[in-house]
Amino acid sequence: MKSILNIGQSKLIFVQNFILSTSYRSIDSLYKKEQGKVAYAAPSNIALIKYWGKRPVQLPENASLSFTLSECRTETSITYRKRKDSGSSFLVTFLFEGAPKPSFEPKIHTFFDRIAPYCLFLNDFEFIIDSSNTFPHSSGIASSASGMSALAMCLVEIEHELGSVLTAEERIEKASFLARLGSGSACRSIEGPITVWGKHDNIEGSSNEFAVPFKLKVHSIFENYQDTVLLIDKGEKQVSSTVGHNLMHGHPYAKARFEQANSNLEKLSKVIQNGNITQFIEIVESEALTLHAMMMTSLPYFVLMKPNTLEVINCIWNYRKQTGVPVCFTLDAGANVHLLYPEAHKKEVLTFVETELAEKCQNKQYICDCLGIGAKKM
Ligand code: DP6
Repeated sequence: MKSILNIGQSKLIFVQNFILSTSYRSIDSLYKKEQGKVAYAAPSNIALIKYWGKRPVQLPENASLSFTLSECRTETSITYRKRKDSGSSFLVTFLFEGAPKPSFEPKIHTFFDRIAPYCLFLNDFEFIIDSSNTFPHSSGIASSASGMSALAMCLVEIEHELGSVLTAEERIEKASFLARLGSGSACRSIEGPITVWGKHDNIEGSSNEFAVPFKLKVHSIFENYQDTVLLIDKGEKQVSSTVGHNLMHGHPYAKARFEQANSNLEKLSKVIQNGNITQFIEIVESEALTLHAMMMTSLPYFVLMKPNTLEVINCIWNYRKQTGVPVCFTLDAGANVHLLYPEAHKKEVLTFVETELAEKCQNKQYICDCLGIGAKKM
């Protein structure tokens, strides 16, 4: 739903179904700039309350909550230049680590198609997108969240340079909105350290259309919380997230799962405030295992965990029982294990990782990360 109001040479556009773009001005051929370059770094995020199940277009079936990471980032720059004639197809060149990667261009075109109603300048400019990741190539870490959020931040910045009238706060929400249209979980990477995506009665301002930062008190135990990503299997996933989400349609446990996620989010929200680490561990590990239980009970069913995923989980449980160190795990849609623990326990947990867990990782590889604040201008 869009209504356009012509005022002199400028256009005011009201996009009613995107709350934030209440108005932005595209100055037609009178863009403020003809060319420029913008660059953003955006991090990955790890969901504690999982998004698994969506309806068109990229709207979640339940609210999710994630920790924004810090070290696992995508760094993207976009060089833009005004086209002589605006065309109906987009002019985009995609570079990965400086080298052309045409295989990625169809994905960008699909993304641009989806966001075109909200970014009216896309057809008027040509773009060179240059992206690189700070985490090892094909580590099995999802780069779509960091990649799409970095791209969305760049596009909103370009729009700003061209003369958008959105406020700084609106630009952040719009970036999250656009990133969501690229990949659902990407909308949670724009801000940090904790974000919520999906309408939830107990989270003020929450929306299905973009993520919001968790604004309630965060207990000091979660400050600088650590996430050591154990790279169990770096191979290509057999089933993509998109296919997995779709298998939640008609899934026998879908309704109960969506209700459970929303109820877990409410419980976790209290735990984040009061710092009850025992409850934290219970909710987070249960969410991870439930996510994979949904995959195993889909039709067709599938398993993304590997034998070493289970080995590592058992080691973590034994270590926690023996030492009392409050370390727990979560899983994303793959075989890798995210080891979560308070910063105060960093030294002993890293010794545990080195002596017991590294050998269960592919090439003994793991990545040390922690909570971060979201996308940053470069
Ligand atoms: C298991 O965001 O990758 O990581 O929206 O289809 O791009 P699309 O899926 P994606 O799904 C992420 C699923 C998850 C859980 C989560 O991050 O909440």
